[in-house]
Amino acid sequence: MTIDEAASLIRCPAIEGVVATWCELGAGAGTFTVALAGLLAPGSHILAVDRDAAALASLPATHHGVSIERRAADFSAEVTLPVVDGVLMANALHFVRDHVAVLRRLRQVTAQMIVVEYSGRRPGPWVPYPVDLARLRDDARQAGFGTVTGIASRRSAFGGRMYSALAVA
Ligand SMILES: C[S@@+](CC[C@H](N)C(=O)[O-])C[C@H]1O[C@@H](n2cnc3c(N)ncnc32)[C@H](O)[C@@H]1O
Repeated sequence: MTIDEAASLIRCPAIEGVVATWCELGAGAGTFTVALAGLLAPGSHILAVDRDAAALASLPATHHGVSIERRAADFSAEVTLPVVDGVLMANALHFVRDHVAVLRRLRQVTAQMIVVEYSGRRPGPWVPYPVDLARLRDDARQAGFGTVTGIASRRSAFGGRMYSALAVA
């Protein structure tokens, strides 16, 4: 996926042109991190978390006037996160079995989340615990995010569709 394609999935008024601090969990090599940085206003800050330090190493320290801090950590464990304006999880929530436990911990540090996930996917090695939009709504509500609104969707090269959604407490 290109950075422009990632940006078109997550573009929404919650981030576009806003000066804010966001955290991205499962940032990987940073396609969505850079897309997010390009949408936020200069002066913003992103904390990019991934257990794969080598993948994080390819992230720039700044993009579009937005500083990007990297942290190698396992987000399914008790990682301590700062209070932030929002959390982005792109293609990452489906790696944890207990979505609600992760979302509850995130609710303690933020009131809004952008999630990018798949619909129409069966469990498999690349998507072990699928979370379609209906499941996300249910899990997010249990975690204290009362409203989940779809942002965009596109056909996935791996089958099904990739969607994005904004969850707000
Ligand atoms: C499919 S990649 C997505 C990367 C990026 N968000 C994107 O969409 O291009 C999933 C990423 O989540 C990370 N990841 C999965 N489970 C994790 C965990 N428990 N803690 C930290 N990172 C995790 C992996 O290391 C990988 O970089």
